[in-house]
Amino acid sequence: MAERAVVTRTGGDDVVLEVRDLAKSYPVRRGVLLKRTVGEVQAVDGVSLTLRRGRTLGLVGESGSGKSTLARVLVGIEKPTRGQVLVGGQDVSTMSRAERRHLRRTVQMVFQDPYTSLNPRMSVGEIVGEPFRIHPDAVPARGRRAAVAELLELVGLDPDHANRYPHQFSGGQRQRIGVARALAVKPDVLVCDEPVSALDVSVQGQVINLLEDLQDELGLSYLFIAHDLAVVQHIADEVAVMYLGRVVEQGDDAAVYDDARHPYTRALLSAVPVPDPTARDLPGEIVLEGDPPSPADPPSGCRFHTRCWLARQIAQQSLAGPGAGTEAGGAAEGDGPVVPERCRTQDPVLVRLGAPALVGAAGGPDVPHTVACHFATVPVVPQEPPDLREPVDRSAPADRQEPADRQDPADRQDPADRQDPADRQDPADESVRS
Ligand SMILES: Nc1ncnc2c1ncn2[C@@H]1O[C@H](COP(=O)(O)OP(=O)(O)OP(=O)(O)O)[C@@H](O)[C@H]1O
Ligand code: SF4
Ligand SMILES: [Mg+2]
Repeated sequence: MAERAVVTRTGGDDVVLEVRDLAKSYPVRRGVLLKRTVGEVQAVDGVSLTLRRGRTLGLVGESGSGKSTLARVLVGIEKPTRGQVLVGGQDVSTMSRAERRHLRRTVQMVFQDPYTSLNPRMSVGEIVGEPFRIHPDAVPARGRRAAVAELLELVGLDPDHANRYPHQFSGGQRQRIGVARALAVKPDVLVCDEPVSALDVSVQGQVINLLEDLQDELGLSYLFIAHDLAVVQHIADEVAVMYLGRVVEQGDDAAVYDDARHPYTRALLSAVPVPDPTARDLPGEIVLEGDPPSPADPPSGCRFHTRCWLARQIAQQSLAGPGAGTEAGGAAEGDGPVVPERCRTQDPVLVRLGAPALVGAAGGPDVPHTVACHFATVPVVPQEPPDLREPVDRSAPADRQEPADRQDPADRQDPADRQDPADRQDPADESVRS
């Protein structure tokens, strides 16, 4: 497959991890004895990302969008089908075996499920010290017990509990153990694959606060994966939104949260909780219909077109009469929803929005805001998708709400702000610390 044209920021001394046009596919096999390859799942398809020192890049997307696959490739658990992974500016595929080993030290992973990712038959001390067996040069054998105690203390656990077993800890504490294990070999980067998704909301804030403290203390960089844009908003400096193996929007957190341009991002944003829960069903909530299509058979053109509320809206305006929705380039009815021809046939690439000169300038964004949508720059984008069963009101464009009229992002409540994490108490934390 040809390399997709992408616009990203590359290079720079502060870049600790970079992926360029990364793809990972898996064969689809049929048959009981003779397993024939009948297709492939394009789990990740042409992703380019840059992670800089001391920063957090949030990676968001629905289930099956390829987040974990990307994470596994980044930490070296799996090899990419195409593209490059650069650690500290060096292409991993050109590294010697010894250098790749070192890479594994540099980039460590925190897993989603603290219940299954810890071996129940190993003590916490053994779990946290396990990386020393794989990387014996990280800490001399005689200093490992002290190093484990130090790591447990670093993540807020009692070093005296090193002999306990995972089942004796709460979910939040187990995730702390997972973080301690990831930090054992002094990495530069933590790839955190939904590190709080399996935890109670009350404990999520504690783990996020811990990660933020560790970042400040150790200068770590995070790739932080989550379904929940609200969680990412709290911790991320930059955000990349994935849909069906592709990044569809990327930028610094202010650009993505305050000026989202991709209709998928806007739908995810509209689901972010607001202070008044009863307001959730008020106009503004964009409900995505159906499940994401299979990555084994992605839709033609724009992969999002089968679920895109904006494409349908533009097509409706186009079909409503001459002069309406002229940007659509003609709407066409096929088997699926009525969407502009362009959306069904042309695959949009990530395009930079805004003036390039502002990126990196004082007061400007640190990273470009990029969006993969043919209609990302249509100036007036309605906040609320119309009810397409109703006749189209051709005066609607003039009445549409300007993006600036949307709810002030400052008014959105950060879920982590709802309750001061310091006020929250993980009951089991107490029991173990006492
Ligand atoms: N080893 C594999 N073999 C075949 N298909 C796979 C494999 N691993 C992942 N996939 C497929 O690749 C796609 C992306 O999966 P992945 O787990 O990366 O998504 P995800 O974004 O992490 O989802 P979730 O939010 O549910 O964790 C899915 O369709 C999944 O079924
Ligand atoms: S290109 Fe078309 S289908 Fe894709 S996100 Fe943009 S409007 Fe929707
Ligand atoms: Mg996953």
